[in-house]
Amino acid sequence: MNLAVIGSGGREHAICYKLKQSLKIKKLICIPGNAGTEKIAENIKEDILNFEAIYKIVRDKKVDVVIVGPEQPLVNGLTDYLNSKKIKVLGPSKFAAQLEGSKAFMKNLCKKNNIPTANFGVFENLNDAKIFIEKNNIPIVVKADGLASGKGVSICSSKEEAIKKTREVLEGKFKSSKKVLLEEFLEGEELSYFCIVDKNSYHFFGSAQDHKRVGEGDVGPNTGGMGAYSPATLLTRKLENKIKKKIIEPTLRAMKDSGHPYTGFLYAGLMIKKNEPYLIEYNIRMGDPECQVLMMRLKTDLLDVIKYAVKNELHNLKIEWSKKNCITIVVCAKGYPSNYVKNSEIKNLIDIKSDEYNQIFHAGTYLKKNKIYSIGGRVLNVTSSSDSLVEARNNSLKNINKINWKDGFFRKDIAWRAIDNK
Ligand code: AMP
Ligand code: GLY
Repeated sequence: MNLAVIGSGGREHAICYKLKQSLKIKKLICIPGNAGTEKIAENIKEDILNFEAIYKIVRDKKVDVVIVGPEQPLVNGLTDYLNSKKIKVLGPSKFAAQLEGSKAFMKNLCKKNNIPTANFGVFENLNDAKIFIEKNNIPIVVKADGLASGKGVSICSSKEEAIKKTREVLEGKFKSSKKVLLEEFLEGEELSYFCIVDKNSYHFFGSAQDHKRVGEGDVGPNTGGMGAYSPATLLTRKLENKIKKKIIEPTLRAMKDSGHPYTGFLYAGLMIKKNEPYLIEYNIRMGDPECQVLMMRLKTDLLDVIKYAVKNELHNLKIEWSKKNCITIVVCAKGYPSNYVKNSEIKNLIDIKSDEYNQIFHAGTYLKKNKIYSIGGRVLNVTSSSDSLVEARNNSLKNINKINWKDGFFRKDIAWRAIDNK
């Protein structure tokens, strides 16, 4: 089979790494990819939002299935476009992609189907929003309705701040939408819960916890994710049952009933409060960096997972996971998540152990004359698995220490809650 993976992050490198282990793959393409995918797949540079150009590549390369990493092409309708050209895609339709593309869509679906989530209001004008803010306790969470690359959420500790942030969203600071979503603040611990879904059934596809804040101890601005670990220590069998019955299954049922069944990876961002799950957000794709730890733990051939999913036969497949603990630490370019250093050479990467338990997944890197340079904010995902989480973290830290990159930084405390609470 020939496969194409769309995207250029650590998530896509991890997907390529796992696919490469399948004996049934003939050709593996990554559009546009990075210096890591270049070693195991054919990188083809193209704008991932240029659907016609993507179609030409997959047609010419005789690609059987396209796997879409990031959300934007899915929200823009890449699945529908390629399906109309008879190309199979692992990823939701444009309609179903609203679960991530529009927070208002997701919240209204929750309300209609009694799915536990923070109380909320959706507003298009400041006066109505102000009434909601006055009535609610602080902190208040202010969100832009559309996609905002993780930057559209503010947790406001005063009503004045909430009004200021609301005004910014309504005035169009986030181009994807001028609607604002105001939410009650939920206290608790976050958990990422993944599923793979086809038209007939769904499977659990791993759990993880990530760290969104840039600084150690979870302080400072939000990022795309500074590190993750799997399995999530929070997830018990009892809690998982609640997640499935109260959140995942009503959502999939509602999508099916609307005539737009959900398909592809589904990532539920949950807040766990007193052993009860609340939905914070849906993502219509794998998480990044959560995917990196999940691909290290997946024992089943990823190609089989994809094949069964696009044939709507997931109910016939058993998906197995390694019991090991896996951690990934993200090495970022200095300055991230604000303006960061670019085009800085990273040395010594080849000297680092690479095996079943240790991998470095590239994100913002490129290869030039056999040298590796940084180009993005999140640059490398140094990933290790082991029998214990603390050992896995030590191994990742040891590998990071061998990298010679003066412009990089990382958090040493990934998984601190799980490790320190033991
Ligand atoms: P979102 O983009 O909706 O996932 O929000 C980004 C991050 O903001 C989440 O991962 C949480 O850490 C935090 N967050 C969002 N909504 C809430 C909420 N209602 N209560 C507490 N924290 C939240
Ligand atoms: N790690 C957060 C995300 O992928 O959205």
